Amino acid sequence: MEFDPKTPQYLTSDKTSFASVSAHERWPVILTGAIDDLHRTVADVTDEEQRKEGKSIIEKLAALKYELQHNRQLTPLPDDGEPGIAEYNKELEQRGNPSWHDASWLYTECYLCGRLNTLFAPSKYWKNYDVFRRQKMSTFKSSRPAVLELASRYKELAQEAEKASATGKTADEVAQADKLLFSEMCEICLWGNATDLSLLTSLTYDDIQKLQGSKARKASEKNIIINELDHAFDVLHRARKEKKDAERRVDIVLDNSGFELYVDLILAGYLLSSGLATTVVLHPKLIPWFVSDVIPRDFSDLLNALSDPQEFYTRRDESGIAYPPLSEKEVGDAKFLFDQWSQLHQDGKLIIRPHEFWTTPGSYWRMPAVAPDLFEDLKQSELVLFKGDLNYRKLVNDAMWETTTPFTTAIGPLGPKSGVRVLAFRTCKADTVVGIPPGEDERLRLMPGGGGTESRKWAWTGKWAVVSFSDGKA
Ligand code: F6P
Ligand code: MG
Repeated sequence: MEFDPKTPQYLTSDKTSFASVSAHERWPVILTGAIDDLHRTVADVTDEEQRKEGKSIIEKLAALKYELQHNRQLTPLPDDGEPGIAEYNKELEQRGNPSWHDASWLYTECYLCGRLNTLFAPSKYWKNYDVFRRQKMSTFKSSRPAVLELASRYKELAQEAEKASATGKTADEVAQADKLLFSEMCEICLWGNATDLSLLTSLTYDDIQKLQGSKARKASEKNIIINELDHAFDVLHRARKEKKDAERRVDIVLDNSGFELYVDLILAGYLLSSGLATTVVLHPKLIPWFVSDVIPRDFSDLLNALSDPQEFYTRRDESGIAYPPLSEKEVGDAKFLFDQWSQLHQDGKLIIRPHEFWTTPGSYWRMPAVAPDLFEDLKQSELVLFKGDLNYRKLVNDAMWETTTPFTTAIGPLGPKSGVRVLAFRTCKADTVVGIPPGEDERLRLMPGGGGTESRKWAWTGKWAVVSFSDGKA
């Protein structure tokens, strides 16, 4: 905590903040979902010992839910030698062993995920079990229309990119066309974050699909309240010109799996094929996290789905729905992506690099001191893209900044002169927001459902987004 900024954090006790709604309403729902999922799996297990162990984890999950709903004190995580446990417990003590409904929102939600992991990690049969996996895959299946639409659009865009450089256009015209394509790819990638599972527990498949299509994206352009994308393009474009033959790396600190990972890979594939990057490093978590966050196995699940899209998208599941077959073109478009991504991965251009730091409870203000190896690694990159709400909250320590505070100030040690170029793509799902113009927060609060003088509700729903940039190499 010694490396954190002095600005106070959002607390689960603050009734006007989404912190309180999260702790009282969302977390119990998430735990109920975990219990249901494990029940379903255990019901099919025939091995008696494994069943018994599964049932005992279910009991512990139920006890955890009880503790949470009855606002008990957070208890130290059982130290089973797993990495990071001591850090969680030390911080718990420093924070004075708070109770669930009166604690730092950021710390407590990370603690919840860490605690879940301690129920599975030491077990014999359930060590690598991901209670969110079923949900992640079924949402990816329900994203079928947007997945197919994008697969087809991706091919068109790749062809447009080739044409732009082959039709005798001036360098300026090519750069202009490149910039437009880059923006479109980035906006696809940004809005892919609007459908994370921790927030969308109550949405139907139809709702999810409406959020993902190109029409929805166009309509949402005006909802990007600060957009510093051009700076990021300039950096990559300049690097392509000046360091033509050198390695030029872009890093993506991932957020959610399923549809969001799919659009991240679309962006990665585009950056590599356009030459705006020569390598893309992807950073997933190592343990199940905030329901839908990517862990390494989610990659193989996604690639497996795309290797046989017909099977994946038409297989009958427990919903009983008969899915219409994919056309030949749709299968071809999806396979095009699968082939490209598998090849890039094989060629070492698309790299997956997990790190324990991403599932520690603290903000990224601590990175230089707590994970110096990771910090040094990120300095090697031309641009580090942080995806999603939680990464943003961790960049700014989930603190109650004035909304006009410059982004470069709010990210502290990752800001100017850090050596790391930061780009954040975030659809707002929490109160903390920085770097927006004076008067903007007040304007949005006055919109229907915006929260008025009482709270910043407009920032809770994923409807509004911020794209913020900091050039740590300038
Ligand atoms: O705001 C709800 C919430 O679950 C937060 O706890 C968390 O920061 C965020 O959503 C997760 O969203 P994302 O997947 O975009 O990080
Ligand atoms: Mg997430």
